Amino acid sequence: MSQQFTRKQVAERASGAKSTLFIIDNVVYDVTPFLDEHPGGHEVLVNVAGKDASEDFDDIGHSLDAKTLMKKYVVGEVVAEERVEVKRRPVSWDDQRAEDGPGFLSSWKFPVLLGIVATVLYSYLFG
Ligand code: HEM
Repeated sequence: MSQQFTRKQVAERASGAKSTLFIIDNVVYDVTPFLDEHPGGHEVLVNVAGKDASEDFDDIGHSLDAKTLMKKYVVGEVVAEERVEVKRRPVSWDDQRAEDGPGFLSSWKFPVLLGIVATVLYSYLFG
């Protein structure tokens, strides 16, 4: 089981200035070794130290690469009582389609309809 943090503990550890910890979607990250490598600059990360950065992180629309990379910096998770519902998920093509329902052209209905039309037409013309 990973280390459990209260939100207060994250804030306290981050205020030691030596480590930059923050919370994204109930997971605690320590990005201290990553500060200088962050393509978005170290300042934005330092600014959210000790806080819940879920929204900031999400607003940027971080790439899948970034989301894979961040796993390296996980140090624990928020204690069960203090977790919040994660509303945002990585948006992918499949998510979009699942939410909207498939469009007519990309659903199974279009090819099936096409098949029926072709069959009817074929038997009309050559039958
Ligand atoms: C462990 C956490 C994080 C990782 C691994 C990470 C990684 C990255 C990566 C790889 C990029 C390059 C663009 C991309 O691939 O999406 C990026 C850009 C950026 N990130 Fe992060 N990031 C993290 C957290 C944050 C947080 C908490 C914030 C805001 C408070 C932030 C703000 C930005 C900004 C402003 C950019 C620049 C976007 C641009 O140039 O258009 N990042 N980050």
